Amino acid sequence: MWPTCQNVSKCVAASLGRRLHRVHTSSRRRCNVAAFMPEAAGFEGVSDRSTLQEFSVSSSESFWAAAARHRVDWISPFHLVQDCDLSRGKIRWFGGGKLNVSVNCLDRHVHTCPERVALIWERDEPGSEVKVTYRQLLEMTCRLGNLLKRRGVRRGDCITIYMPPCPLAVASMLACARIGASHNVVFAGFSAEALAERIRDAQSSTVITVNQGVRGGRVTELKKTVDEAVQSCPIVRQVFVAMRTENPVAWTARDVAMEEEMLAEEEVCEPAAMDSEDVLFLLYTSGSTGKPKGLVHTQAGYLLYAALTHRYVFGYHDGDVFGCVADIGWITGHSYSVYGPLANGGTTVLFESTPIYPDPGRYWEMVQRLKINQFYGAPTAIRLLLKYGDQWVQKYDRSTLKTLGSVGEPINTEAWEWYHRVVGDGRCPVVDTWWQTETGGICISPRPSDPGAEIVPGMAMRPFFGINPVLIDTEGNVLTSNHTSGALCISQPWPGMARTIHNDHQRFIETYFRPHPGYFFTGDGAYRSQEGYYQITGRLDDVINVSGHRIGTAEIEDVVNQCPIVAESAVIGYSHDIKGQGVYAFVVLKQGVDIKAADVLRQLNDTVSKKIAKYACPDCIQVIFVQHLPKTRSGKIMRRVLRKVVERDLEGLGDLTTMDDPAAVEEIIQGHHDLW
Ligand code: PRX
Repeated sequence: MWPTCQNVSKCVAASLGRRLHRVHTSSRRRCNVAAFMPEAAGFEGVSDRSTLQEFSVSSSESFWAAAARHRVDWISPFHLVQDCDLSRGKIRWFGGGKLNVSVNCLDRHVHTCPERVALIWERDEPGSEVKVTYRQLLEMTCRLGNLLKRRGVRRGDCITIYMPPCPLAVASMLACARIGASHNVVFAGFSAEALAERIRDAQSSTVITVNQGVRGGRVTELKKTVDEAVQSCPIVRQVFVAMRTENPVAWTARDVAMEEEMLAEEEVCEPAAMDSEDVLFLLYTSGSTGKPKGLVHTQAGYLLYAALTHRYVFGYHDGDVFGCVADIGWITGHSYSVYGPLANGGTTVLFESTPIYPDPGRYWEMVQRLKINQFYGAPTAIRLLLKYGDQWVQKYDRSTLKTLGSVGEPINTEAWEWYHRVVGDGRCPVVDTWWQTETGGICISPRPSDPGAEIVPGMAMRPFFGINPVLIDTEGNVLTSNHTSGALCISQPWPGMARTIHNDHQRFIETYFRPHPGYFFTGDGAYRSQEGYYQITGRLDDVINVSGHRIGTAEIEDVVNQCPIVAESAVIGYSHDIKGQGVYAFVVLKQGVDIKAADVLRQLNDTVSKKIAKYACPDCIQVIFVQHLPKTRSGKIMRRVLRKVVERDLEGLGDLTTMDDPAAVEEIIQGHHDLW
């Protein structure tokens, strides 16, 4: 069962009233399909981009087979394009094929252009960037691969990486791929407890980290956090420590001085021949229950999808500098800072800093200095920068920019317009890219290079090649007409999709394939316009999106409930100017607790940041103390009612007859009234 459609209908209403400002991005001239996508040359009946799009869906196997042969270097060819059954959550691509992802990202480019810059490490301090060529990155990867092997890491092991964006983090990911291990990158803003939970679930006996992180002019004690985390992870037998700063840190017997030991290793490391469906990485993300899920991505399909979307959504060309400012701890960093650009032999930026350090001109000063051609960031940062004013943008030369990308959450029209008009000087298309950790790469997005492509601000527009989105109503009917809203599902498999949840295939099936049998259910709602364009309207489940970071309300509740003064709580999202959504917690204190509201708030914030991460709490958490939570007679918290109260939509409270104690709603409305 998928939950209410409230977000969807709200958004449709909004979009109906909106002026559709269309931006045409290229001429309507017909163009040569084979020049655009060489593998399309052999597709029967494909004469232009729109027939190519149709072909990619109707003859998806032929499309993906050709793309896989053309874009991936195989050690041995695949013999079965796909073997998928969405009703059972079975997804397999390119059966029988063998490859090595690091060879695809490094060696093949070293053969053709060894001195091309692969990575530009944009360090926290502006102007101190470090460039790493393909030859150097291959060498780092091989030395590290050899070191991991010498230290007992075997094919099939999973290594946890807790590092900020930096060349050694990328080399660590690729070294895993080289020797047949998988990686589990944990965002370096997560707390020791959140890190420990992910290390244990992934069963990592090796962790890679740095002594300290540096971000926004501040030093963070990452090694210390790892030390604290591994105390509750007996499985960890070694921690590799790279030195990001010169400051010494406490050392234990399990620590390995990474750079020092890498120097003693050979520069050549034989790549493992991996099956297409061997695990490449796990990446934990939030769901609607308390426990984060380790989504599993495999080798060939993921790589192909990341590479193809990187090239065609952003119009990436050889020689371009691609600036994705996401952290490598999120899927955006995986697919568009690392795997997509490197598979394409591109130059990719690793951004260590923040949008406002040392001042709100940081992004654009970086664009000027590094001559960035495609810039890819989150709406939350755009909304923040917009408030500082145009002068921080206009100070810098942005003439190299060709495409601007947005990801992670809906981009409101004001932010879209500003991004387009001010940052892009009205000449760079804005691609609002919709996708998820589960999808591996972008699924719905404008493709500005298409002839006659138009972009409507705030709309993700059209599916990528091979993607067939469908909208399904609350009764489970597929909605075939346009100008309609429903649960966003995808009707056929594509190579980039996640294969399972680590150690919990049943949860994978229940979450993504049971709600609408035969379809992949995204958890999002969408509106399809009269013209057939898609607009994402928000989550349909109990997942919220704070600054583009996805977090389950149940995850926060679990943690808030651990606070000794709390009896129970209910958490919902609320609309936040900059962060998109903030966290709203309704808290019932234990009997007899006598404590000032500010102190409770401090305690809750401390607990949430200690157990999850800072981004999940400060400056956007609102707490309301209540005597009771509204519940059904069977004891389920009625979050729908809480949402309505927070949205001040008392008319829309709906049917309260199943409520256990109607006085609870009265109390909440009353308490809230005082805040309005
Ligand atoms: O709700 C959608 C929102 O972010 C969710 C996926 O989060 P995550 O797995 O962390 O991946 C984020 C980066 C791809 C989606 O289910 N989302 C992502 N992109 C957009 C979006 N919502 C609206 N518009 C987008 N462009």
